[in-house]
Amino acid sequence: MRTNLTFDTKKLQEQDRHWVHPWEDLKALPKAERTIIAQAEGIYLHDSDGNKLIDGPAGMWCVNIGHGREEMAQAISEQIMRMPYYSPWSLGNVPASELAEKLTELTPGDLNHVFFTTGGSTAVDSALRFMMYFNNCLERPEKKHIISRADAYHGSTYLGSSCSGKARDKDHMDFATELVHLLPTVHPYRRPEGMSIEAFCDEKVADLENKILELGPDKVGAFIAEPILASGGVIIPPPGYHRRTLEICRKYDVLYISDEVVTGFGRLGHWFASEDVYDIVPDIILSAKGITSGYVPLGAVFISDRVVNRLTSKETDIGYFASGFTYAGHPVAAAAALKNIEIIERDGLLEHVREVGPYFQARMKELEEIDLVGEVRGEGLMACIECVNNKESKDPLTLDYEMGKRIDAHCQENGLIVRPMINMCVMSPPLIITRAQVDEMVDILRNGITESMADLHKEGLWQG
Ligand SMILES: Cc1ncc(COP(=O)(O)O)c(C=O)c1O
Repeated sequence: MRTNLTFDTKKLQEQDRHWVHPWEDLKALPKAERTIIAQAEGIYLHDSDGNKLIDGPAGMWCVNIGHGREEMAQAISEQIMRMPYYSPWSLGNVPASELAEKLTELTPGDLNHVFFTTGGSTAVDSALRFMMYFNNCLERPEKKHIISRADAYHGSTYLGSSCSGKARDKDHMDFATELVHLLPTVHPYRRPEGMSIEAFCDEKVADLENKILELGPDKVGAFIAEPILASGGVIIPPPGYHRRTLEICRKYDVLYISDEVVTGFGRLGHWFASEDVYDIVPDIILSAKGITSGYVPLGAVFISDRVVNRLTSKETDIGYFASGFTYAGHPVAAAAALKNIEIIERDGLLEHVREVGPYFQARMKELEEIDLVGEVRGEGLMACIECVNNKESKDPLTLDYEMGKRIDAHCQENGLIVRPMINMCVMSPPLIITRAQVDEMVDILRNGITESMADLHKEGLWQG
C-alpha cells in the first residue's frame, strides 16, 4: 500500500458536503467536517491527514477478512475482464452459479435455495415479498402481517424500515404500520427489576404468541428477527428465546425469517449463527455485508426446501415470484464472494473468531469498571458499551449528551474509529484482529470513555 499519498482534507470536506450520507443531519450538512478515509490495510485505516486508525466497526460490520487483500482485487479484476455483467433473468453466469451451490453448502438444514440481492435491505424486502407471494399461492391472501421487535434494524427500504424498531428513527418518517407490528424490547439488561432471566424469556416468548393470537394466526405471515439485534445495541435475547420463538412460528405456520446480515459470515465464529449458535433452522435466512467482506455489494435470501416444496407441490398455477434485480447474481460480486469464502476457509477465520472472541469479550467487559458504563455485552466479535447516568437506575444518557459521538471523537484522536449510537458504542472489528490489537483497541476505548466522562463533568452535565 502507498502511504505517501497526500490529500487536501479541507477541499475533500467541502466536496463531501454534496453527499447526503445515510442518516444525514441536513441542517448540519453545510458545516459538516467529516473524517475522510483515504486508505486501509488489515484492521487499520488512514484518514486524509495521514492519521492511522483501528477500524473498530469493520466499516459497517462488514470488512470481515480485513482491508487490502490483493487476492480479492485480483479475483474482482479478473472477473471484470472475463465478463463484467450479464442479465440474471433467464441465464446463469459462471461465478454466480458456483456461488449458489457453495452458499447452500454453508447454510444450515434444508436452506438450499438462494435469491441474490444487492445488499441487506433488498434481501429483507425480497424475503417479505416472498412471504406475501407464498401466502397468495397457498390461497391465504390475508396472511401477510409481519411481526418484528423494538430495537431491531432491518434496513432502509420502505418495508424493511417499517420492520425496524429503533425509536429515534421513527420521528419524521413514514412506515407500513398497518402491516408491521413491533413487539417490546428483548433486551435482558432492561428487564424489570427483580425479574429473573428465565421469567423474562417466558414473557418475551409470550409477547410473540400473544401478538399472533391478537392479530389472528390466519393473518400473520412472518416473524423477522436478528439472532442478535445488532444496530439496536448488540442486544442478545435471553437463552432459549430463539428456539422457543421458532416453535411458536411453526405452531401457527408463520415463516421465521432470520436476519443474519450482521451475524453471518464469521462474526460469531460460524458461517451462520442460527443453527450453530442458537440451535434453530429458520425458514429463511438473510445475508449481506460479510458475504463479500464489503469489497463489493451483495445480498442473499436463503429459502428452505420445506417452504419451496409447499409451493411446487401444488397442483394449481403458482405463476412467478415476480421480483428481482438487474444486479442479482452480479458476476463480479459473486467472484468476490467466492474468493472471500475461500479466504475465510483457508485462513481458519471462523476458528480464529472462536478463539479470539472470548478474549475480546473479556477485555471489553473490563470497561464496566468505569462509572459511566452500565453494561458491556456481546458475543464473538461484536460488542456494545452502554453508557448510563447511574449504574443502579440504568437511566440512559440521552441523545443530548451525544455520548457515543463524544467517545468516538476522543478515540479518533487516539487512533480508533468507534460506531457511536446515542448512549452506546458498538465495536465489531475485522475478524483477523489479534489479541495484541484487541489490547490496543480496548486501551484506547478506556481512555476515550474516561476523557468523555471528564468532559461531562467539566460541562456540569454529569455528577457521577
Ligand atoms: C440486521 C440488518 N439487516 C439489514 C440491514 C440492511 O443492510 P444494507 O445496509 O446492506 O441494506 C442491516 C444493515 O446494517 C442490518 O444490520
